[in-house]
Amino acid sequence: MTDTRDIGTIAGVREMQDFSNGLRGEGKTIAFVPTMGALHDGHLSLMREGKKHGDVLIASVFVNPAQFGRNDDFNSYTRDTDGDLKKMTAAGVDIAFFPRSDEIYPPGYETYVDVTELGKPLCGRFRPGHFRGVATVVLKLFNIVKPHAAVFGEKDYQQLQIIKKMVSDLNLEVEIIGMPIVREESGLAMSSRNSYLSPEEREKAAYLSLALRQIKKRFDGGERDTSTLVKEGYVVLGGGSIGEVDYLEIRDGATLRDKALAAPGDVAALAVRIGSARLIDNTVL
Ligand code: PAJ
Repeated sequence: MTDTRDIGTIAGVREMQDFSNGLRGEGKTIAFVPTMGALHDGHLSLMREGKKHGDVLIASVFVNPAQFGRNDDFNSYTRDTDGDLKKMTAAGVDIAFFPRSDEIYPPGYETYVDVTELGKPLCGRFRPGHFRGVATVVLKLFNIVKPHAAVFGEKDYQQLQIIKKMVSDLNLEVEIIGMPIVREESGLAMSSRNSYLSPEEREKAAYLSLALRQIKKRFDGGERDTSTLVKEGYVVLGGGSIGEVDYLEIRDGATLRDKALAAPGDVAALAVRIGSARLIDNTVL
């Protein structure tokens, strides 16, 4: 049966703030899922979880220019408002927030949030300014939507750690909930960017999760030396022949610091460029 329930949509920042203030005034709790749209089952799993963490579920769709570099895919990023609205309705979202870029970043905008250390390694090395853009927009969205709880995916592991750190460092009163990676049958982590892959590239992309599984298997078998574990992962990636490997590293799960010896709770993370897609994935050991 299709869901015919009305989903509310809000675009104005002031309107969103007034709405959230009203809910809080009535003693209602707000759960929030920020996204950039082109929604897939990974996003929807966050929304279903969000339902459990508030009386009202708000999801946002905003392709945030501040987190894209000059050569990134901001212009080609998939935009599908109608499809997203249908999926959000089915996932139980009460209010869809579609802010406009010129309202989020009006002319003369100049304030940014930088989580200095956590933003440096892994994707930070390859996407300068990316996490500054993420932290900034997430803080702005928190100030507009005023959630009690917000749900993020472990797919973007470094992003999740950065948001947790920002919330702690800036004394924000938002509970951050992390959710497991949702994968395709091949093991490929779901991503809005998978749509850039040709069928052949999609086959190659399956090796990303296989490399991580191999690392986890060897870790579970007792191997602790991170360079040995990483080497094993590279073998599965065909020594880089399936795509250009930006990084494949094992790091502390919370601080993201380098390690010589792996321990439970550490994260194995990678980023690989296949065709025009830059894909990321990770697994917690
Ligand atoms: P986006 O890439 O649209 O992802 C929105 C949320 O969905 C993030 O928390 C992300 O980790 C989660 N997600 C994506 N793919 C997933 C998967 N396969 N399994 C589980 N969760 C998944 O991340 C962003 O947008 C932006 O950086 C944002 C936080 C919205 C700030 O602009």
